[in-house]
Amino acid sequence: MNIILLGPPGVGKGTIAKMLVERYGIAHISTGDILRNAAAEPTEEGARLKALLASGALVSDGEMNELVCNRLSKEDCRKGFLLDGYPRTIPQAEALDEILESMDAALDMVAAVEVPEEEIIKRLSARRVCPKCGKPYNLDFSPPKREGVCDACGSKLVLRDDDKPETIRKRLQVYVQQTAPLAEYYRNKKLLFVARGLTSEEILGKIAAELK
Ligand code: AP5
Ligand code: MG
Repeated sequence: MNIILLGPPGVGKGTIAKMLVERYGIAHISTGDILRNAAAEPTEEGARLKALLASGALVSDGEMNELVCNRLSKEDCRKGFLLDGYPRTIPQAEALDEILESMDAALDMVAAVEVPEEEIIKRLSARRVCPKCGKPYNLDFSPPKREGVCDACGSKLVLRDDDKPETIRKRLQVYVQQTAPLAEYYRNKKLLFVARGLTSEEILGKIAAELK
């Protein structure tokens, strides 16, 4: 099973991705998580990435294509994979077509997740993450047991650098300009499935029913 999850920032891609990879036993490839890990390294490259992510702009297509090509060549992707956050531009989608062809693999579905924009801004403003172990929380939806503290490792929770209101707006703009055209790209390939819903369970149910 090879799936792409498409959708604007904060739509719940990461949340639904975790449920799908567990259900189908496939690899979860979140390009955002990979980049945030690289940005946490105390190197010049880490500092460059950290500033870029905090601005809400995209990393270059060349870097992303190379990163994903390497990740897809790993053993755990043989049983299937879910791409969360890639492709994000038409050139990335074209590069992915070539990568998959060279692997003799094909996509089963591109699931486009949709929720109302006001809900997205509310969710991202309430998201908190553990800077140490990466566990995500949401003050409204899935708060920690003790206010401001990670349940798993006791570290102080933080706001993601790109979840500040002005950066959220910038990320939504970048999405509309550069990523939204991918829906048409995959509709033309008869791979697009639009999943609308407010709860992650509702969206997961729709995707799973379509994959049967
Ligand atoms: P990335 O990490 O991919 O961020 P994103 O697309 O902006 O999406 P998010 O991770 O913010 O949201 P999500 O859809 O995963 O939602 P989540 O489940 O967390 O990318 C970050 C940056 O990396 C980019 O801006 C770019 O710079 C760079 N990058 C990454 N890939 C790239 C690429 N291919 N090319 C170039 N640059 C790239 O949910 C959001 C919140 O809502 C959470 O708090 C969650 O708990 C809550 N929530 C989830 N579901 C529900 C629900 N049903 N009800 C209520 N709350 C909910
Ligand atoms: Mg995410």
